[in-house]
Amino acid sequence: MPESITITDNRTGSTVDIPIVNGGVAASDFSKLLPGVWFYDPGFMSTAACESAITYLDGENGVLRYRGYPIEQLAEQSNYLEVAYLLLNGELPTPEEYTKWSHDITYHTFIHENVRKRFLEGFHYDAHPMGMMVSAVAALSTFYLDAKDISDTAVLHKQVVRLIAKMPTLAAAAHRFSVGMPFVYPDNSLDFCANFLSMMWKVAEPRFEPDPALVRALDILFILHADHEQNCGTTAMRTVASAHADPYSATAAAAAALYGPRHGGANEAVIRMLTEIGSVDNVEPFIQAVKEGKGRLQGFGHRVYKSYDPRAKIIKRTADEVFAVTGKNPLLDIALKLEDIALNDEYFTSRKLYPNVDFYSGLIYQAMGFPLEMFTVLFAIPRTAGWLAHFKELLEQDSKITRPRQLYVGSEERNYVPIARR
Ligand code: ACO
Repeated sequence: MPESITITDNRTGSTVDIPIVNGGVAASDFSKLLPGVWFYDPGFMSTAACESAITYLDGENGVLRYRGYPIEQLAEQSNYLEVAYLLLNGELPTPEEYTKWSHDITYHTFIHENVRKRFLEGFHYDAHPMGMMVSAVAALSTFYLDAKDISDTAVLHKQVVRLIAKMPTLAAAAHRFSVGMPFVYPDNSLDFCANFLSMMWKVAEPRFEPDPALVRALDILFILHADHEQNCGTTAMRTVASAHADPYSATAAAAAALYGPRHGGANEAVIRMLTEIGSVDNVEPFIQAVKEGKGRLQGFGHRVYKSYDPRAKIIKRTADEVFAVTGKNPLLDIALKLEDIALNDEYFTSRKLYPNVDFYSGLIYQAMGFPLEMFTVLFAIPRTAGWLAHFKELLEQDSKITRPRQLYVGSEERNYVPIARR
């Protein structure tokens, strides 16, 4: 017999049996019994807002898979572009499919000159690069008018290619503008990550040759950040997509959510915290202050993971490979001591607080020379693949427009009082 639950309306004695399918119960079945009674769930703490076949996450056991493939295997053996293809299409590409995909991405990396000259260079000199990214991505929709035709799969695919290809170009352009350096055009002879590093760091050399270990580390970080099921940014993406907005506008909305410090800004907060701690001698008093409720240990804890974030494990290994090239980030010793103490402290273990993806990623980005303001931008580049996979999936599911209900707690009806009598 299939598993089910029975709900009784104590006002009437009526009951309804609801099957448990894929770990969920359909709210529409409740509604048959309880018309006009809404499920109150701020922050979607207990709500599955969709079905999805993209990413599997088991937070209790620290499991993360893209389309069924364990994140550890993808980080070890794949690359970001292949993972992006997998997320978007559901299967790993054949050699021919991969060659075409990577060629298409490579040949869409250029941005229209007006995007750079009129938009990006129009920002104030100290504009935050993530604010520039959010606006520039939204502006792209005005350059590709066909993007509105989301029902045409060939047209939609073209926007997907454009978005994935142009994110690194926009990101590097935003950085170069913020430090007063000239824009570097994409180099189509370099692969995705090497090209991004070239656009970031090239000065006067004819061809920028990034260190292969750094290129690979960036590739791994991009794989790890490519999707994470229904987080805040992806939920924003699906919500805006459900209104059938074009993919640029929807991606800008998702990026805006990521810009929030509670979401994409945590690795920046980790670096600020480690800098503030300043020395391994200050770690114990810092932990004590956290336990007394004076602030949080940044990069620790996660809404879904209640064990070691599998991405953090991979990043910790990658950090060693990066530091072998760049020299050790002086903050690493503080981070290691923090982790060691926290993992052996009852306060953290009893609350199931473990390092999350952000605990070590900032140390790597900083060692590679990225300024703190670029950290969220570095998250947005690969997450674009995940956002677009959800955009496509939502369209294929022919979803309804997202429109939750509310429980009204405001004033009863009252009469307007003219301003002179207030
Ligand atoms: N340091 C110290 N205590 C913590 C921390 C932390 N980092 N995180 C949670 N706690 C404690 C809370 O004080 C609370 O204790 P209590 O039960 O005694 O009140 C308990 O653990 C549960 O905390 P909640 O806030 O209910 O957990 P929630 O699941 O809502 O929060 C979150 C998850 C927001 C990630 C939280 O752990 C946090 O603030 N971490 C630090 C910021 C961070 O690293 N964010 C990145 C998340 S990953 C990402 O977005 C890519």
